[in-house]
Amino acid sequence: MVIATSREELSAARQNMRGQIGFAPTMGALHAGHLSLIERAKKENDFVALSIYVNPTQFGAGEDFARYPRKKEADIALCRAAGVDLLFMPENLYGANEPIVCAPLIGASILEGEIRRGHFDGVLTIVTKLFNLIKPMRAYFGKKDAQQLWLIQNMVKSFFMDIEIVACETTRENNGLALSSRNAYLSKSEKTDALKLSRSLFEASRLIKKNETKTAAIVAAILDILQPLKVDYIAIVDREFNALETIKKGETIILIAARVGATRLIDNMWI
Ligand code: PAF
Repeated sequence: MVIATSREELSAARQNMRGQIGFAPTMGALHAGHLSLIERAKKENDFVALSIYVNPTQFGAGEDFARYPRKKEADIALCRAAGVDLLFMPENLYGANEPIVCAPLIGASILEGEIRRGHFDGVLTIVTKLFNLIKPMRAYFGKKDAQQLWLIQNMVKSFFMDIEIVACETTRENNGLALSSRNAYLSKSEKTDALKLSRSLFEASRLIKKNETKTAAIVAAILDILQPLKVDYIAIVDREFNALETIKKGETIILIAARVGATRLIDNMWI
C-alpha cells in the first residue's frame, strides 16, 4: 500500500497505477461500513484508492470539526489489511480565494442542508477536488448519507464528470444501529437510545409491508418510537427528494435525523 500525504506523492503513485481505479473518499475513523466500500471497490476495479481528510468546509460553526474522531494509525492498519492500494492522507487541500461548488438550492436547503447551512457546498467542493486528484473510474458512497449521495450523483451528471457513482448499502451492527464514525461519541446508555432510529425505520418498513401507504401515518409511528429524542426531521421522499404523501414502492426513502444527547445521528431506509 502506498501512502501519499502530498499532491506530489499522490501524482507519482497514481502514475504507476494503470487500470481501473475505484475510490472511496472518507473522513477516517474507519469502520465496517468503510470496509464494505473497499471490498466492493476491490471486486470491481484493478486498484482501490481511499482518502482520509476531515474536510473543514463541510462543518458549520459550532459543529464537531475539532473533536471529529481522528485515528490515523488504526486507519492505516485497517486499510493495509483490507488491501487498499493507495491511501491519500493530505494535510490541507485548500488555498486562499478559491471558487467553491454550490449545491443546487433545493438540495442544499432541505433536510440536512436546512439544518447544516453550507454543508453540501463543502462536500461537493472537496469531492470535486478529490476526484480531480485521484481520477477514479468509480467512486463509492454509502446510502446512509442519502442526500449527499443524491447531490454527488447530480453534480457528476451536471458537470459531465466521467465517474461512475456506486451507491453502497448501509452497514449495521447486529442490533440495527447504522455504523457511523460519530457513534464513537455515544456513551453506553446513549447507544441504547440511538437504537430508536433504526428500530423506528424497521417499524416503518413493517407497516409498509402490511400495506400502510399514507406517509403521515408512518411518520407518526416513527415519531412515537423516537420519543423522547430531539428529532430534527422525519422525511419520506422519492429518489429526487420530493416529499411524498403516499409510499411508492421502489422509489421511496425514509430519512431521520435526531439528537442523542449532544450527538446528531442520521439514518434512512430505502423502500
Ligand atoms: O461522507 C463523508 O465521509 C464525507 O462527506 C466525504 C464524502 C468524504 C467528503 O468529505
